[in-house]
Amino acid sequence: MKKILVTGGAGFIGSHTCVELFSAGYLPVVVDNFSGSDRRVMDALAKILGTPIPIYEIDCCDAVAMRDVFRKEGPIEGAIHFAAYKSVGASVNQPLEYYANNLGSLVTLLQVMRNENVRRFVFSSSCTVYGQPDTLPVTEESPMKPAESPYGRTKQFCEAVINDAVTANIPLQAVSLRYFNPVGAHPSALIGELPIGKPENLVPFITQSAAGWRGELTVFGNDYSTRDGTCIRDYIHVVDLARAHVAAMHWLEKDTRPAFNEIFNLGTGNGVTVLEAIAAFEQASGTRLNYQMGVRRPGDVMEVYASVEKASRLLGWRTEFTILEAMRDAHRWQTTLGPTPPKA
Ligand code: WQD
Repeated sequence: MKKILVTGGAGFIGSHTCVELFSAGYLPVVVDNFSGSDRRVMDALAKILGTPIPIYEIDCCDAVAMRDVFRKEGPIEGAIHFAAYKSVGASVNQPLEYYANNLGSLVTLLQVMRNENVRRFVFSSSCTVYGQPDTLPVTEESPMKPAESPYGRTKQFCEAVINDAVTANIPLQAVSLRYFNPVGAHPSALIGELPIGKPENLVPFITQSAAGWRGELTVFGNDYSTRDGTCIRDYIHVVDLARAHVAAMHWLEKDTRPAFNEIFNLGTGNGVTVLEAIAAFEQASGTRLNYQMGVRRPGDVMEVYASVEKASRLLGWRTEFTILEAMRDAHRWQTTLGPTPPKA
């Protein structure tokens, strides 16, 4: 089996991508320091896959440790880099740690890849690089806007690091995947989204509130100039998102250019309001959700959803799951987690 190094492979999107990589005939080799994920995810992956996969508990900023993984597991076909801090709110209070970790881990990984002659690379980027687009749906040619947070800036800077490496003719064959809003869980309910502490994101807060882990949901603003006054996002099922990484790796195996960084938006192409997302959850779960209207959250953009024409045309990839199925799977995952949140 061709080996793919997956940093952050115990995380939400990383673990789902390991499942799809394995199903496609690759062997994921996970590197994770479990700073944002739980070790038990690796046991769950072994259950889903029917066999354990290699896991190295190291910090992605540790160049020697990373090099040793490449040498022990080589030959490595390519690398997918998920490992990063991703809380918008926390990044405002801890910018130095966000730059050190998010930029440091990327630079370290690219240096080791260059030294070990591994060229195929998939980077986990984010639609947050667009800010509030001038036109919708947003395409890969839409300009980046000033980021609203240090987290968003780390994603913009990381893409610049990759571009500069390519410009310097470092033999890097890269794809940067700009995720819209990943939601849902694996249909087995063995893996899913479980942020540490109180969720910042909408869907885990919805499922945890419905499970009685949290108080009622506050809708951050219903005075936007949208169809129902609440913000619009492009919620993409995490399994669809994971499958896009396999499609990207397949595409990289066919592209013979010596050095490039190809950008792809990964979304459904449909915008959904917060109230529509709540209604989808209620329909999918068969439960009523308690929520209240509140003030706008600083930094929120009003409306963003993807043009997915490029990923469809070049990667041959489209989403298959609906928002209802994403909410069904998120709810099903939540019901496996018990009556109270894990000790933070
Ligand atoms: C979605 C909508 C909120 C919580 C962020 C990052 C992005 C990506 C996904 C990593 C907004 C509203 C939310 C709540 C609410 N992360 N909301 N009450 O902000 O679009 O994107 O997560 O890559 O980079 O920026 O996602 O889920 O936080 O918010 O009303 O308790 O739900 O105002 O309109 P967001 P989100």
